[in-house]
Amino acid sequence: MNANITREDAMALLRKYNQEPFHIQHALTVEGVMRWYANELRYGDDAEFWAMAGLLHDVDFEKYPEEHCLKAPELLAEIHASDELIHAVCSHGYGLCSDVEPEHEMEKIMFAADELTGLIGAAARMRPSKSCRDMEVSSLKKKFKDKRFAAGCSRDVIREGAERLGWELADLFEKTILAMRECEDSIAMEMEHL
Ligand SMILES: [Fe+2]
Repeated sequence: MNANITREDAMALLRKYNQEPFHIQHALTVEGVMRWYANELRYGDDAEFWAMAGLLHDVDFEKYPEEHCLKAPELLAEIHASDELIHAVCSHGYGLCSDVEPEHEMEKIMFAADELTGLIGAAARMRPSKSCRDMEVSSLKKKFKDKRFAAGCSRDVIREGAERLGWELADLFEKTILAMRECEDSIAMEMEHL
């Protein structure tokens, strides 16, 4: 899989259309999580593609929330992103704001993990450590069941994502916590130097 872009160009495009630090941080998180998953699931040769899709998946959201996933192809064309990358980006909003269905395993992972990173991030901020370093799957399960907690993170999307992958929810939780642990420090550092 070829993204046809450099990380530098991807970051420049992300920052051109996103000012909110929270949005940049979310993009970096999904980038790191997707890179981790690519390596974990033996798609290492495509890890940069997975990562760039993660970095840019919400590129149009801040500026064009009403056209989320619809505006993305036009923005991604500015850096000559490949059709494969555009497909991957658009598929993460399937059923919500896009009719591009997740087909490739990476697309299914991104669909499932995107909302979940939001839930894990919110749960991490509640912890004394402010981190998911010491987060257990059991405590995340409780947050998942508590509908009032991080209500904006759709449990239905996370559940549907796990189903599309054919994974147990607990498996998706465990892997995504591990993925976020691994990229937490480097993201904090990159945010400091924005
Ligand atoms: Fe997202």
